[in-house]
Amino acid sequence: MGGMDLHAPLFLNCEDIVMRIRQVLPALVAVSMVGLGFNASAAELDGDALFHNPAKGGCPACHGKDAKSPIMPNYPKLAGQNEAYLLQQMKDIKSGARNNGQTAAMKGVMQMVNEDELAAIAKYLSGLQP
Ligand code: HEC
Repeated sequence: MGGMDLHAPLFLNCEDIVMRIRQVLPALVAVSMVGLGFNASAAELDGDALFHNPAKGGCPACHGKDAKSPIMPNYPKLAGQNEAYLLQQMKDIKSGARNNGQTAAMKGVMQMVNEDELAAIAKYLSGLQP
């Protein structure tokens, strides 16, 4: 009995440590994943997947799955356009620097994509056949 009393506090301490690790681990994993997200450069992001992801603006809904069959004749074709031009236009639409009759439709979804994602999308679009 005496021996068990001696071991009891040690056992509780070990269990406590395991509990603490179990509580902290998911938070550590979440933090490191957020860190990766922030550090991911445009080169690591998949522009193709982003362009076709409804949660990232649903670009094909207006510009077409192939980025060259817009739903309206006054909406732009994007496939094969210069990368730097595409990125600049998207930044300008997002910031409001570019603003005309058609821009409003596009501006709303620009809040769903960050600058690194826009860069990856611009790279992807510029590589498509016009
Ligand atoms: C609701 C419709 C709609 C959605 C969704 C949409 N766009 Fe647009 N986009 C437009 C319209 C309309 C224009 C033209 C704006 C103007 O006339 O100023 C445009 C313009 C652009 C331009 C500039 C093209 C140029 O030649 O100057 C790029 C690049 C672009 N969109 C990319 C995207 C990407 C990438 C997404 C998804 C993240 C997206 N768009 C989602 C409607 C949309």
